[in-house]
Amino acid sequence: MPRPDSHSYFDDLQPLTRHIELSLDLDFDARRIRGRVVLALDEPSSGPIDLDTDGLEIESVRGDDGAELPFTLADAEPVLGPRLRVELSEGTSRVAVEYQTGVDAIGLQWLTPEQTAGKSQPFVFSQFQAIHARSVVPLQDSPAARVTFEATLTVPEQLVAVMAAGPATEGPDPLPGTRTFRFSMPQAIPPYLIAFAAGDLESRDLSERSRIWAEPAVVEAAAHEFAEVDSMMATAEAMFGPYDWDRYDLLVLPPSFPYGGMENPRLTFLTPTAIAGDRSLTDVVAHELAHSWTGNLITNANADHFWLNEGTTTWAERRIIEALHGEEVAILGWAIGEQGLKAAFERFGDDAPETRLRTDLRGSDPDAVYSIVPYEKGACFFALLERTAGRERFDAFIHAYIERYRFSSITTEEFVAFLENELPGVAAAVDVHTWLYEPGLPSNAPRFRSERLAWLIARGDSFANGERPTTEEIADWSPSEMQVYLQHVVRPLPTEDCDWLDAQLVLTGRGNYEILVEWLSIAAGSDYEPAFARIREVLLEVGRMKYVRPLYEALGAHPRTRALAQEIFEQAAPGYHELSRRAAEDVMSGYPD
Ligand code: BES
Ligand code: ZN
Repeated sequence: MPRPDSHSYFDDLQPLTRHIELSLDLDFDARRIRGRVVLALDEPSSGPIDLDTDGLEIESVRGDDGAELPFTLADAEPVLGPRLRVELSEGTSRVAVEYQTGVDAIGLQWLTPEQTAGKSQPFVFSQFQAIHARSVVPLQDSPAARVTFEATLTVPEQLVAVMAAGPATEGPDPLPGTRTFRFSMPQAIPPYLIAFAAGDLESRDLSERSRIWAEPAVVEAAAHEFAEVDSMMATAEAMFGPYDWDRYDLLVLPPSFPYGGMENPRLTFLTPTAIAGDRSLTDVVAHELAHSWTGNLITNANADHFWLNEGTTTWAERRIIEALHGEEVAILGWAIGEQGLKAAFERFGDDAPETRLRTDLRGSDPDAVYSIVPYEKGACFFALLERTAGRERFDAFIHAYIERYRFSSITTEEFVAFLENELPGVAAAVDVHTWLYEPGLPSNAPRFRSERLAWLIARGDSFANGERPTTEEIADWSPSEMQVYLQHVVRPLPTEDCDWLDAQLVLTGRGNYEILVEWLSIAAGSDYEPAFARIREVLLEVGRMKYVRPLYEALGAHPRTRALAQEIFEQAAPGYHELSRRAAEDVMSGYPD
């Protein structure tokens, strides 16, 4: 039998790690972590156990009695990294590894004080999905190998450490000049959900079971922005069943965080670009919160089934938005997603394997193939199932699905079998096979339209023909409506049209990054010089790949903007997360010479 996950050395014929005891000592000067991990196995075992690593320096491996166990660290394989094989002696149930992380551990970003809001303390955060836990902890780094854990984080005494976990009881006193924070995660999670951060952090309570963490300079604005998290939780619970993870806290990271949000259990990580000032980007929280059911309770067994994680969550996110703000608002979310999906299909080509839901990613780097397809095509598939079964039956199905698979990691095929069992005939009615295994968007994809949306799209489409919305019409637009409008404006535009847009829609000074980046992409692709300064500012400050990629792409259209891109990149690269740097480099490598 081949290993169950082509992105991990995890071998399901070997002993399985059930629980992890982790101690991490963070050295901000060296940008390294000294780590000790104990892997508690499911039963006393002997023979080999294969662990994933990436850049780790392994110092010792010991068994239950403290005696050294022989190990070999192989040469790095592409994507997977070096395999650490430990030979367990008879009856081993605990494997203790002492190690140090590499200086460029891809699962971490170390920030200088200048890269933070407060400018006075350094900061570090982890980001492990899909396969970067191995750059910080040697373990079976597959979502199929769920673990519970306890952890201690030791940091300089002026910093606060937080972790996506619950608190643990106090332990021994820390070393002088340091503080040790203790955590415990009693629920079995995939290793990609292990997450922590340390910096100058403060918190504000948002409700009895929710608080927000951020730097002091950001925490008030963040608390205001996400004040409605409790009603979001209540809405989600009414739809998907009780929230299973005790607390739901939020952590706002510095702007180099490469994602919009990350669903780390009990502590969602968020980009500060979600703080628009008017609560217009809280769909990111709806999405990460939804992962508490679709994703953290039930995740993909390996990267080939990633759509099961993100597609179901995007569908759930839109259901939460619909319940909170009404169908008209949810439809805008679907429309914005549809435009993104269309652009992805154009980029990949309709027949490209990247447009399949169930993928075969053997040999591919999950970061390199990451796209909107599993999100939006997956969500469309779920919406079609919902329409076909009827909402009431489908909601009952979702409850049964969560009940059946909670705390497990499943494949597309297990999902299909369960669907057929619970909602017989629905799979055939929607042509599940085409949806899951074929490229492109099937012709029975559900449409999301309202009169208002059709009007907005028509206004955007006709911009190039000289049609302009009136000042009164514009004043009436919600931020999402303005985003839909801008998405449909055909580019490039002549300078006068850019002047008009910026003056009438007040774009360059926007706090809503979805609108701002849509506009700056139009401006960059139109070689519109008055926007260059703002483009530079955004790319120097923000590392969120959803914004970094399209901006560098748009800058690729003209010799002058390509030169600008190169110049900005040179200055920005040292501050980018490794993933954002790669994304920008990837885009620029496609520029014409
Ligand atoms: N889990 C993802 C982020 C992710 C995916 C990190 C794959 C690493 C590998 C998270 O839930 C997500 O989808 N974030 C979105 C936000 C959204 C769709 C509202 C993002 O970052 O843009
Ligand atoms: Zn997600």
